[in-house]
Amino acid sequence: MTSQTDSLLKVRNLKTTFHSKGRTLRAVDGISFDVRAGEVLGLVGESGSGKSITLRSIIGLTRDYGSVEGNVYWKGEDLLARTDKQLQSVRGSQISMIFQEPMTSLNPLLSIGLQIEENLKAHTELDKRARKARAIELLDMVGIPSASSRLSDFPHQFSGGMRQRVMIAISLASNPEMLLADEPTTALDVTIQDQILQLLLSLAKNLNMAIVLVTHDLGVVAQTCDRVAVMYAGRLVETGSVRDVLKRPQHPYTLGLLKSVPENIPPAHHSFRFPARHQHWTHCRRAALSLPAASGRKMCVLVPNPR
Ligand SMILES: Nc1ncnc2c1ncn2[C@@H]1O[C@H](COP(=O)(O)OP(=O)(O)OP(=O)(O)O)[C@@H](O)[C@H]1O
Ligand SMILES: [Mg+2]
Repeated sequence: MTSQTDSLLKVRNLKTTFHSKGRTLRAVDGISFDVRAGEVLGLVGESGSGKSITLRSIIGLTRDYGSVEGNVYWKGEDLLARTDKQLQSVRGSQISMIFQEPMTSLNPLLSIGLQIEENLKAHTELDKRARKARAIELLDMVGIPSASSRLSDFPHQFSGGMRQRVMIAISLASNPEMLLADEPTTALDVTIQDQILQLLLSLAKNLNMAIVLVTHDLGVVAQTCDRVAVMYAGRLVETGSVRDVLKRPQHPYTLGLLKSVPENIPPAHHSFRFPARHQHWTHCRRAALSLPAASGRKMCVLVPNPR
């Protein structure tokens, strides 16, 4: 656990409860974790374990339909104690979110340029001309070709991967200090997934932006995150460095997650079948995931023991 002083975000005993038709569902059941500036924290867990609701609760998006308890300290101030209006100075500006469904988050009736500019209008002091220039710069940054000529296009004129990039551009418009990324690559093919993850990583590094990355994919966690938190039935069952959690899982659920990944495929198969991915492993910060030096190869993360 990070020290009290260097945590940007400290979540303490967060509980989110829904009441419907006389039934009570506790989607998030008393979780606590920290995120430091510039850190990438992976949040994994099976479907329905409460990952999205956790992210939404942090920035007050579940207030209208659920009750939220606990504390969410952002730079020492409790966001849960703020009114919705007070939250607006943080939400979308200092803390930004990429939602799980890019198509439902983009407005189909507004051009991409307008949607980015709206966000800039809400969160920056830029005038109209500067907003347009910044919108082009952001689209450029996330790798949309001919950005200036795409501003007037509508979401349906972009591919799935491009829409996801646009979502990232919108979420970065305010230069956030933290990005809550809810499965930003799940719906995309492997090559695009990889590009977007690399993009997020380079942004985290260059802008010193912290990321909470929700994913089902342990390979993504190993490739991308500094630490990982595992959720199960609304609770955090394990938190630690990626290396510790993947190498020495403590909780049966985490062990199950690791076991569900194919173990007996020879590493050479992994590394040569996905050369682009393999190339990233050579830059992987977690050397423990390498194969023995003599092999001259890097280990695919899906094989837990390199010996
Ligand atoms: N608006 C809502 N009202 C009532 N229950 C909800 C609501 N939104 C989510 N839930 C419930 O909260 C629990 C956690 O949902 P959540 O969306 O956080 O899961 P998740 O871990 O993100 O799953 P996935 O990996 O499928 O996205 C689920 O049981 C879900 O049915
Ligand atoms: Mg979800």
